[in-house]
Amino acid sequence: SRCILLGAPVQEGTGRLGCDMGPSAFRAAGLAGALEELGHAVTDQGNLVPAAARALCHPNPVLKALPQIAAWTETLAEAAYRAGAEGMPIVLGGDHSIAAGTLPGLSRRAAEAGRAFFVLWLDAHPDFHTLDTTQSGNLHGVPMAYATGRPGFEGVFPPLAAPVDPRHVCMMGIRSVDPPERTALAAAGVTVHDMRAIDESGVAMLLGRFLRDVAAADGMLHVSFDVDFLDPDIAPGVGTTVPGGATFREAHLVMEMLHDSGLVTSLDLVELNPFMDDRGRTARLMVDLVASLMGRRVMDRPTRSY
Ligand code: ARG
Ligand code: MN
Ligand code: MN
Ligand code: MN
Repeated sequence: SRCILLGAPVQEGTGRLGCDMGPSAFRAAGLAGALEELGHAVTDQGNLVPAAARALCHPNPVLKALPQIAAWTETLAEAAYRAGAEGMPIVLGGDHSIAAGTLPGLSRRAAEAGRAFFVLWLDAHPDFHTLDTTQSGNLHGVPMAYATGRPGFEGVFPPLAAPVDPRHVCMMGIRSVDPPERTALAAAGVTVHDMRAIDESGVAMLLGRFLRDVAAADGMLHVSFDVDFLDPDIAPGVGTTVPGGATFREAHLVMEMLHDSGLVTSLDLVELNPFMDDRGRTARLMVDLVASLMGRRVMDRPTRSY
């Protein structure tokens, strides 16, 4: 199917500048060409422009750029929803606050198609804070809480047409969780595979189990890929580095299994910060990983179904 590239140059959701250059770096690293080489048709819709921000107040004084992120959320939800009708949306962030737009837009698309909606969240962090529990005030820490319908976003972010079922969310690579997130994840029933689980069981077993659930439900699968899922030694171009991340081989295996499953219907690529990168190395690695997800392989092998 056709890949629809959407640039979302959002950086107000992080504590540092530079993520707004993410879409340019993905383009410079040759994302569209890599997809075309694999036989995919590609439409690059360019960079989105956010809706006008309106004044918003909230009792938590640490929140940063709330009006700007709320405006982006509205714009991204609509854009992702529309792109979902034309092909496979690939949203180029921008920080992870963009998932506050993409998840609701794509889950609405799935609900209208009568399909279950699943999310694979590849990240060092669960981003499961509410507007009330965040201590940093960085809104890239809240999108999953909002998209799954946790309370406290009413009147600030747009109402959700189809909240994501937290039991349909699988997180992998997690290694930095704040105390309020830890309790809320367990209460909501999110599947969290932290780095210890990956060390003990391996990505193939853990991911295979989730892909079988998605296939059994005939679900649509959104992958939200935060660069900090990867170990900082191979992916330095990100603001929030956390040691002990996924290796090159683990990350490629995840991508190859996703491709073989045939289940992925949309993708976010977030938190790439070209200002922190080392001569485009992280951007190029991300493009190679997307290529694996979209069908690049070393050798042909019999297709495996999950
Ligand atoms: N939990 C921390 C916070 O809320 C870190 C969040 C990092 N999120 C990200 N998308 N990189 O500030
Ligand atoms: Mn994240
Ligand atoms: Mn992260
Ligand atoms: Mn279900």
